[in-house]
Amino acid sequence: MQTLKRRYRFFRSYHADPPWDTNISPPELLDFLTLHIPGRALDIGCGTGTNLIGLAKYGWQAEGIDYIHRAVRKARQKLQDKNLTIPVYHGDFLTSTKVRGPYDLILDIGCYHSFPDENKRRYEDKIAVLLAKPGYFLIHGYLKSDSPRRGITQKDIELLSTRFHVEFAERGTGLHERPSIWMLFRRE
Ligand SMILES: C[S@@+](CC[C@H](N)C(=O)[O-])C[C@H]1O[C@@H](n2cnc3c(N)ncnc32)[C@H](O)[C@@H]1O
Repeated sequence: MQTLKRRYRFFRSYHADPPWDTNISPPELLDFLTLHIPGRALDIGCGTGTNLIGLAKYGWQAEGIDYIHRAVRKARQKLQDKNLTIPVYHGDFLTSTKVRGPYDLILDIGCYHSFPDENKRRYEDKIAVLLAKPGYFLIHGYLKSDSPRRGITQKDIELLSTRFHVEFAERGTGLHERPSIWMLFRRE
């Protein structure tokens, strides 16, 4: 039920202009792209495809997945307008069989943080299956604070850190000053 509610919230967001949909790739992603040799990349919860365009600009062979059809349609249109051929899959990352690793980079901006715990564990298992060796997992999300809203917890960070090597973890604030974190993991 919680999962359905969450999906419905995303569905509704894309009927207006979602606050995260800025058409600008964040500097943390651009820094990564500047410093690393391109390969295959997957953008989980790619929304309207802004970061797929960013990845392609730096030579990455990118793919995206999002479970909101309207977002996927917008992403496909944006990519077509730029003459970019990038697969954008419509589906739930947790269950989709369309994404096939190994990926040299897996990117998640704003997806993982909103999963309930059991789905976070399924998600981490799937990342471990899809990530190349060596490979990078770059993630940005809100931290769980006192509010009932979901977020990344200290336990999540510890669990991720037992599976992957932490290259950096940088705390900051996102929209409405909500505490957030960027993390880059590497798998050898
Ligand atoms: C906060 S938005 C960020 C979108 C995009 N990454 C960006 O930075 O513009 C999170 C996205 O994750 C997608 N999403 C959430 N859970 C998902 C799931 N289980 N499978 C696929 N997409 C999912 C939502 O539909 C939404 O587009």
